[in-house]
Amino acid sequence: MELAEEIRALKEGRDAVLLAHNYQRPEVQDVADYVGDSLYLARRARESERSVIVFAGVRFMAETAKILNPERTVLLPDPKAGCGLADAITAEQVRAWKTQHPGAAVVAYINTSAEVKAEADYCCTSSNAVKVVEQVPADREVLFVPDLFLGDYVRRRTGRRIHLWAGDCPVHAKLRPEELAGARAAHPGAPVIAHPECGCASQVLPEVDRVLSTDGMVRFAEETRAPEVIVATEVGILHRMRRLNPATRFTPLDAGAICPYMKEIDLADVRDSLAEMRYRIDVPAPTAAKARGVLERMIAT
Ligand code: 13P
Ligand code: SF4
Repeated sequence: MELAEEIRALKEGRDAVLLAHNYQRPEVQDVADYVGDSLYLARRARESERSVIVFAGVRFMAETAKILNPERTVLLPDPKAGCGLADAITAEQVRAWKTQHPGAAVVAYINTSAEVKAEADYCCTSSNAVKVVEQVPADREVLFVPDLFLGDYVRRRTGRRIHLWAGDCPVHAKLRPEELAGARAAHPGAPVIAHPECGCASQVLPEVDRVLSTDGMVRFAEETRAPEVIVATEVGILHRMRRLNPATRFTPLDAGAICPYMKEIDLADVRDSLAEMRYRIDVPAPTAAKARGVLERMIAT
């Protein structure tokens, strides 16, 4: 039997749903029940009625699914699927930063560990970061963790007093304004869409036509009539874009923008995960209880 068929059969047998992020390998996306960005997948996890959630993504996404669904089994098919950005801050560092800014509200990007979320007042994803920060009472300063570029983008959009943690994503931070200028010159007239984690998204905003979450980029791709679009994010997203809109040429700003964490999981890992019910994600109850409130509010925003 083919791996994809085996996975479909195991999913039914285990009463499992398979969620996959937009950066996953094409063959993993193709066998998933739902493919999307962090917010969409958190919502799908929250609403799932299956006993088991298999998360083809990275650890913080699987932890989020577990916190929102403590009674269900959540599996991450490869334990090495972490996130360089989530590693940029620890809960202890958040606690220390808070003592330097008493009264400030901590807004944690979803790309953080469960322990960091448990220290936060708000949690956001790339698709609702501006809306979440606008919910913070106007007289409170904001401590935004851990992504410098997303935080800077939100600061420009909201005009709020936001302190930025100096973390970044190793894949997106290297997509710089110089690369963007080169692509503009080489592909005149092609719109540029960028993820807000990009080094170019915050610094040269006027150069970028749209700053979007990965699902926002997929929707843009579906709707555009432009002959060519420059895509500034991880290249795994091109699979969906090209399938949804074969008439447009989707050109990556950097064909080497590949997230090694997102590529850890392959079809054999998904099959083994379902067959052997591994690797189970558990979040200690006190941490989960503290993080659940900010996550519930995030998925409602
Ligand atoms: P999205 O929520 O936009 O999919 O972003 C997740 C991520 O890890 C981007 O690097
Ligand atoms: Fe983390 Fe960057 Fe990979 Fe997204 S692309 S999962 S932020 S390392």
